[in-house]
Amino acid sequence: MRSVSLMKWIVGAAVVAAGTAVWAQEVVQATVDPEVPAADATHVAVLAGENEVPPVTTTGTGMAWIAFDPATNLVAWTVEFEGLTGDATGAHFHGPAEPGANAGVAISLVAAGAPVSSPLQGTATLTAAQAAEFTAGQWYVNIHTAANAGGEIRGQVVAAEAAAADAGGAGDADAMAALMAAGQPLYDRNCGACHGNAGQGGNGVTLAGFSALADARAVIAQIVYGGTFMPAFPQLTRPEIAAIATYVRNAFGNSFGIVTEADVAPIK
Ligand code: HEC
Repeated sequence: MRSVSLMKWIVGAAVVAAGTAVWAQEVVQATVDPEVPAADATHVAVLAGENEVPPVTTTGTGMAWIAFDPATNLVAWTVEFEGLTGDATGAHFHGPAEPGANAGVAISLVAAGAPVSSPLQGTATLTAAQAAEFTAGQWYVNIHTAANAGGEIRGQVVAAEAAAADAGGAGDADAMAALMAAGQPLYDRNCGACHGNAGQGGNGVTLAGFSALADARAVIAQIVYGGTFMPAFPQLTRPEIAAIATYVRNAFGNSFGIVTEADVAPIK
């Protein structure tokens, strides 16, 4: 059982698009890391400059793991980012807006007085109107810098597929066979040097019999974003990631089920 320690700051008046300061919403800064482990996320947002309106050219990338409880409207987040043109100057949920449109600030991701540094971790309780926008996919996460005051990286908040649960079933035998056949050469080329072509490990963890592979979303995120020592694989496409994730979950004596392109889509 991890210990949780919370500190509270009140976020000061924030300005909505219309220019009127209308609310002061409490954001609770969490000091536990991560506040939202990948496996607990009900929603995710993948942040990139190309999602800004208009698009921004940057090496910055980010990922938001969000847990929303419809019973209490409590939203919790862990937002990681890197590669920005400079220090982040602000980070918020914005809405309501679809991808391709801009909207004002809904809630800060940073409590007043807390640093705008990765990872951002916190919780807030949404109003009923905010919760309706949030669950309708009308919110996005936006991180601002001095060079890009309107936002440098952005990502729409989308529901995380219950990939791990879905993928745990027997699945379709033909789809499994196709994904395994596509996955093996991709794995051998991209992953085998560290994890071993038989999943036996070496420079990476042993994947044969590795129980953490049960969490499909965590496996996908590990490939997309890398780990502490493991590189990211931004060059792999969605179908390639689905094939590799399926392969590592079902080769080497493992049996964790299929990962489809639809499972990868919320993350990449
Ligand atoms: C340069 C070496 C290297 C390469 C290449 C590499 N990994 Fe890793 N991998 C690691 C290391 C080291 C870890 C241990 C933890 C970490 O760094 O995040 C790891 C951890 C993992 C984990 C476990 C994450 C967890 O839940 O703890 C998975 C799954 C994984 N790698 C899959 C892959 C796949 C799939 C590929 C190929 C697309 C790959 N790795 C390529 C080194 C590598």
